[in-house]
Amino acid sequence: MPVPHRMPPNASAPAGRVRRRAVLVGGALAAACGVATARQAPLLLRFSHVVAPDTPKGQMALRLQALLHERSGGRIRVEIYPDSQLWGDDDEMEALRLGAVEMLAPSLSKFGMAGVPEFEVFDLPFLFRDLAQVRRVTQGRVGRELLERLGRQQMVGLGFLDNGFKQMSAHRPLRRPADFAGLRVRVQASQVLGAQMRALGARPVVLPFGETQRALATGVVDAAENPLSNYLTQQLAPLQPHVTLTQHGYLGYAVVTHPRWWKHLGRADRALVRQALDEALQHGNRLAAGLDQAALATLRTQPGVQVHMLGTTDRDALRQAVQPVVEQFRRSVGPGLLDAVHGVIGDAA
Ligand code: LMR
Repeated sequence: MPVPHRMPPNASAPAGRVRRRAVLVGGALAAACGVATARQAPLLLRFSHVVAPDTPKGQMALRLQALLHERSGGRIRVEIYPDSQLWGDDDEMEALRLGAVEMLAPSLSKFGMAGVPEFEVFDLPFLFRDLAQVRRVTQGRVGRELLERLGRQQMVGLGFLDNGFKQMSAHRPLRRPADFAGLRVRVQASQVLGAQMRALGARPVVLPFGETQRALATGVVDAAENPLSNYLTQQLAPLQPHVTLTQHGYLGYAVVTHPRWWKHLGRADRALVRQALDEALQHGNRLAAGLDQAALATLRTQPGVQVHMLGTTDRDALRQAVQPVVEQFRRSVGPGLLDAVHGVIGDAA
């Protein structure tokens, strides 16, 4: 299966971040060796993510920080590194393995390439109608089983978080399959997302999230797919003035930690972190739809931005064009998984 086109080598991570990493990788071993500290000793939880604080993920992390500070009397300190300041989405999972960070919430699209292809079921185009359908999957038995599968790749899956549905942005409206022809579209590192863009006649370009804005500004890519809170907070509007509400795919997250750190916590702290995280996730999930709506309202009034609705005929044409992708990945996401998802959301496969 062809892998989506990669970023040219000269467009790698910014030098500042690379230098920071060199220091951090040195510190990573120390962190990994520090696992034998006493139970009631101060505890540091570094939470790295790639989006802005004013997003469902950013807000969830802030709530976790506040809850743990309050309930541990300041003993458990959560350091949050937003906006790819510490790690990008291209190397955060490796950082987790090294012990250079304790908690992440990568988008579900990232877990396929990390060795858990079942997660790419969430990338299948036009699978979910709304967040209520997504939640029936993530908050039920299917979701629990998916989180357990992360154990195969040395990750403890702690819960799911919504962002929202992806919309297309470009220099022109993207309503019909023909509008995508020849466009270089930034996608996450997911086989499904690459195949989806190829099915529309576009050229997928895999890029870390933190490099997307620069790639759009310099013309390395022409278009992108994002939930509106990401589009807004990454300041893509001046670069991508046409937003088409295609609502063609879902973007959400799984919060993960490393089994070594999780075990090291001991029972009491594990319960404390677990409880605080569950509440933080509920908070983030409650906010998600509202942040999406608020972003849309802001964009509608932003000078220069044009928001395009999709009529039923155009939406059906897009859905039809990407339908072969669903068939192509039915097997690789796991025998029976897609049927199980359809069973839960109540739509026919
Ligand atoms: C992306 O790469 O587009 C997403 O992973 C960003 C996010 O919301 O974490």
